[in-house]
Formats: sequence, C-alpha cells, structure tokens
Amino acid sequence: MAKRKKAKKHRTKATAKKSARKVVKLAASKKANGNGLPRPSNKPYGMAGRALDGLRILDFTHVQSGPTCTQLLAYMGADVLKVERPGAGDITRGQLRDVPNADSLYFTMLNGSKRSITIDSKHPKGTEILNRLIKTCDVLVENFAPGALDRMGLTWEHIHKTNPRMIVASVKGFGPGPYEDCKVYENVAQCAGGSASTTGFREGPPLVTGAQIGDSGTGLHLALGIMAALYQRNRTGRGQKVLCAMQDGVLNLARVKLRDQQRLAHGPLTEYSQYGEGVPFGKAVPRAGNDSGGGQPGWIVKCKGWENDPDAYLYFITQAPVWGAICDVIGEPSWKTDPEYATPKARLPKLKQIFARIEQFTMTMDKFEAMDLFNKHDIPCGPILSMKEIAEEQSLRSTGTVVEVDHPTRGKYLTVGNPIKLSDSPADVRRSPLLGEHTDEILKDVLGFKAAEIAEIKNSGALSAPPKKEKAA
Ligand code: COA
Repeated sequence: MAKRKKAKKHRTKATAKKSARKVVKLAASKKANGNGLPRPSNKPYGMAGRALDGLRILDFTHVQSGPTCTQLLAYMGADVLKVERPGAGDITRGQLRDVPNADSLYFTMLNGSKRSITIDSKHPKGTEILNRLIKTCDVLVENFAPGALDRMGLTWEHIHKTNPRMIVASVKGFGPGPYEDCKVYENVAQCAGGSASTTGFREGPPLVTGAQIGDSGTGLHLALGIMAALYQRNRTGRGQKVLCAMQDGVLNLARVKLRDQQRLAHGPLTEYSQYGEGVPFGKAVPRAGNDSGGGQPGWIVKCKGWENDPDAYLYFITQAPVWGAICDVIGEPSWKTDPEYATPKARLPKLKQIFARIEQFTMTMDKFEAMDLFNKHDIPCGPILSMKEIAEEQSLRSTGTVVEVDHPTRGKYLTVGNPIKLSDSPADVRRSPLLGEHTDEILKDVLGFKAAEIAEIKNSGALSAPPKKEKAA
C-alpha cells in the first residue's frame, strides 16, 4: 500500500514537472508565433476555409441596410440565419417584382448566401425558439424601427442575460437625439446626413444620389462595427451593442463637405467652379455639380456620340503633375508655360474655360478611346459606365464582383459579389433562400430538435402565418 502511494506521489510529481515543461514550451512557442496565434497554416492560399467560418449570425434584418451587412458577412463565410415573418417574409421579396410569383431582385440581390427560417416572434413558442437561437449565435443583427425589437421582448438586458457573449448590432435612422424615434429610409438619410444639400447643380434643387449611401453605406459601417466587437470579445469574453445611425453613416461619407463648411469661414472655395464664375458663396457649402471635391480639379466632359447616348461622357481630372501632358494631348502646348495656365493657382478661376477646351477634344473620340489615350499619358480619367455596360463587363465577372447565380423560381440573375477581396478567403456567393427554405434544417441541425418536437412546434402555429380572419357577413 505504502509502495503504491509512493509510486503515485512520484507519478504526480513527474506529471506536474512534465506539464510545467509543457507550459514553458507553449509560452515559448506562443512567443515565437506572436501573441499566441497558431502557427501559419501550411495549406495553399484559398484552401484554409473562409474568414468567418464558425461565426453564426441571427439575422433579423429587412429591406436594405441590415441585409447588406449580413450578406457581406455571409459572403465571408458566416452562417447567416435570416428570421422572417411566416407567410410574408422580408417585405422586399414582393417589392419591384419583375418576374411574377418569384422573389424580387430587390430581395435576391441583398440576401444571397443566407439561410431562411420563418418564426412568429410574437408567438410564445416562437419566443422559445428565438431564445435558443440567441444562445447559439454570436451576433444578432437588426434594423427594425426604433423599439420594435424591445416590443418582441428581445431587449438588450434579456439578450445579454441569455447569452452574455452575444453582440447586438442595429441600424437606426438617427442616433440619440430629437429624431431617434423616427423611421428612416435611404433618401431621408441622404438628406439628413448632408449629402443631398451638397449634391446637384447650384441652380437646381438638392439631389439624392443613386449609390445607396444611407442603406448600403450604413450596412457596411455596421459590418465593421461587428468585426471590432468580435475582436474585443476575444479579450473580454462579453458582447456589446453596436449602433450605426444612417445619418451618421451618410455624414461620414460626406465628411469632405463638412471640411469645406469650415474652410468657407476663411474665404471662398477656390476649387469650386462657382469661384471662377464670380458667383459669391453663401453661408453653407453649395452644390458643386461635377466639381471634383478634391485638390485636383475635375469635370465631366462630352465624348463622341453624346447627342444620342446619355452616357457618352468622361470624367477628366486636371492633375497638376501631368498638366504638361494634358496640354500636349489636347493641342494647347503653349498652356504649359503661359503664366495664365501654367500653375494650378492660375488655372482655378478658368476651370470652366479649360474644361470646355478639353471637351472640344474629347468630343472627337468615344469615351473608351479617350480613356485609352489619356491613360497612355498617365492622365487620370474615367468613362461614365452605364449599368448595361457594367452588367456586360467581363473583367468584373472574372474578379467575382458581378456574379451570375441560379434561382429555383426566377432563374438566372446577376448579383454583386464581394467587393472586398481576401486572398485566403474565397467569397461564398450563392443565391438567396426561399421564404422558410431552411426552417426544418435549422431547427434540426442548429437547435437539435427531434422530428417529433419539430412537428409539435409546427402544430403550435409559431412557424406559420396566423389564419386570416373571416370577414363578418
Ligand atoms: N414575427 C412577428 N412580427 C415581426 C417579425 C416576425 N418574424 N418580424 C418583424 N415583425 C414585426 C415587428 O415586430 C414590428 O411590429 P411592431 O411595430 O408591432 O412592434 C413590425 O413587424 C414592423 O417592423 P418595422 O421595423 O416597424 O417595419 P416598418 O415596415 O414599419 O418600417 C423601416 C420599415 C425600414 C422604416 C423601419 O424598420 C426602420 O426605420 N428601420 C431602421 C432604419 C433602417 O434600417 N432603414 C432603412 C431600411 S433599408
């Protein structure tokens, strides 16, 4: 007995020594590998999975802003479970429909690579399922009207108590302040974020832009916020709230105009063509048409065919370092040395006239010929591409920026793939799900419900649309 005790003691001591050695070794290898990161993978680039493999998102988003965010995360490998209202789903499924009875392009182009589950979030059984999803997911993303998530019972306190690691990411129209309770759509945000007042021509009304800087722009901001919160969670072990207000997102994208607002206090904005035209500035940053907005003046000039083709134009930048080349190419070599044109400062009051001369030249060739010619001389410019030209552009297809996917009810359609290229994480661009297509799969594989339990859930009515009320006779 004593012998056995002694042997055990010896073994324990040996094991302790061994594990101490292991700890030291581990610490050393951690040091060698930098902050405890695993050793660099030996797998070829693109074969080591996707960037967000293992991340599970409870996607409560609808319309555009939120879906933009979760679609990007799905493209990067996250498992995005889109919760939709039974019988109806995301309202955009039926908006701007081009193919009868098929999900619209509005929906399909914002919800690719996701799984769809229908749950009535106001049904007691629905709440139970949602709570189980909260326990298994890493991030909840939502863009309901202010207060809607709370009204479902999904307050931050409840979510945090159910899963302290969960990140709750929201898009709202406005941050805290006088408008925080307001519902907001794209163009409201463009107007409230300073974009509309600074877009368009001076003589005309404020203009909204075609790029969805309020919706998709804020969705992008939210994706970045989620990534930062996940990184911090690695240290703290806890989730946090991420809020992106659309007004803030638009202002962030329009920050150069807030820059100009402050510059205005110190004199006229000399790079705006208004200055050269002798039109005095008011108290706020004006609309500047196609002025470049940066330190290198630019404008849109006509190209051959402009009379019939609304997109036969080129954006031309008179970048100072290539001014000599510009003068030679357009046939005004004397402008290189003429003190009236030779320096950027001298040119500022004459921008309108200079671009008129450049336009005379560009009207002799089509926009692609102009692009080729100017680029040979390192002169920055860009053709105005129509959406038709973009849809047909083969280089965008080969980089995966424009992707064709096949859909069971609408057939093939084009979507925008991942504009963010990761060299070790190929984009996972798949079609959007049908309404509730993955309900059974998620209940079984993600939540572990047995067949009998799934049948019981279905019987409860939590996954189906409430029966329509009979009209009184
Ligand atoms: N089961 C049951 N009810 C559900 C549900 C589900 N699965 N999913 C949503 N609902 C309910 C919500 O609980 C809410 O009900 P309540 O108001 O009675 O509490 C209701 O559907 C509608 O939600 P709401 O967000 O108010 O939609 P809306 O169509 O009235 O407003 C917006 C749309 C976009 C204006 C609004 O959501 C909003 O301002 N969002 C924030 C800003 C934003 O993202 N805007 C840009 C959108 S691209």
